[in-house]
Amino acid sequence: MTARMFEEKQHASLYQKYRFDPPDELKDLILQYLDKKKGKPHQLAVDLGCGTGQNCRSLTKYFEQVVGIDVSESQIAEARAVPGFPNLSYRVGTAEELSFPDGSVDLLTAANAAHWFDAERFIKEAMRVLKPNGCLALFGYGDYMKIHYESCGDRLNDIYEEVMQILLPYTSSKVNGANSKLKDLFEAIPIPDKERIESIPIKQQLSIKTVIGFIQTFSMYQAYLRADPSAATALLERTTSRILEEMKVSSTETKVDFILEYFCVLACKPE
Ligand SMILES: C[S@@+](CC[C@H](N)C(=O)[O-])C[C@H]1O[C@@H](n2cnc3c(N)ncnc32)[C@H](O)[C@@H]1O
Repeated sequence: MTARMFEEKQHASLYQKYRFDPPDELKDLILQYLDKKKGKPHQLAVDLGCGTGQNCRSLTKYFEQVVGIDVSESQIAEARAVPGFPNLSYRVGTAEELSFPDGSVDLLTAANAAHWFDAERFIKEAMRVLKPNGCLALFGYGDYMKIHYESCGDRLNDIYEEVMQILLPYTSSKVNGANSKLKDLFEAIPIPDKERIESIPIKQQLSIKTVIGFIQTFSMYQAYLRADPSAATALLERTTSRILEEMKVSSTETKVDFILEYFCVLACKPE
């Protein structure tokens, strides 16, 4: 059954605001893989579980057409509201039933999304729509996240860990798929030409406000918010105050180093 954790309008707005674009390192890795395996032309890229479109937009420079697909109407509405990408379109739909002809897609991606899919049905559909030598690139980050600021040492990480412990009971078992870096899904891909890169550490500078906003986008935070709205809101307020206090600053615009560890599953459909 399709996971319905991203349906609410306010959740989609948070996604648009606080989810970041895939890092250039990862995009380059995927495009180089596609070039090596299939080469040009790059006609059609399809991004599954596209959310509010961050990965789709970053692909538009490299493909004639990009299509983003998501099961959530709210996410697609937010994605469509971003102007300026004439070769990008969106469809509400599922990764398990793709409305593309056999052998028509050059690159199929899923950013932070493949762990939500029904693996068997998705892989079968992916193999159907990819062109010969077309590629699959499934990426995301697991639970490794670190925050650094000047001499704060590990104290900011301890605060972050405490938040994650509170959210643990609200965490869907599907999230384990991302935390295990899609190991099971990778093994289920029935072709020999595949690889799984487990660690691509990426450091970016984010404001405290963005870090808190990013936590708000987590499906487990949204589940907590539904179960206990005042406790969930208080958790974010308390966390913001603790972070400011540890950093000895007063503005939530202050930047910290935020380190994520991406993973990426790559596969190439045989001729
Ligand atoms: C964690 S979000 C990631 C969104 C976006 N790719 C990003 O990186 O910010 C996962 C997305 O996958 C979508 N999703 C979950 N299951 C799906 C399915 N079976 N088919 C299509 N989309 C799905 C959700 O609606 C949600 O928008």
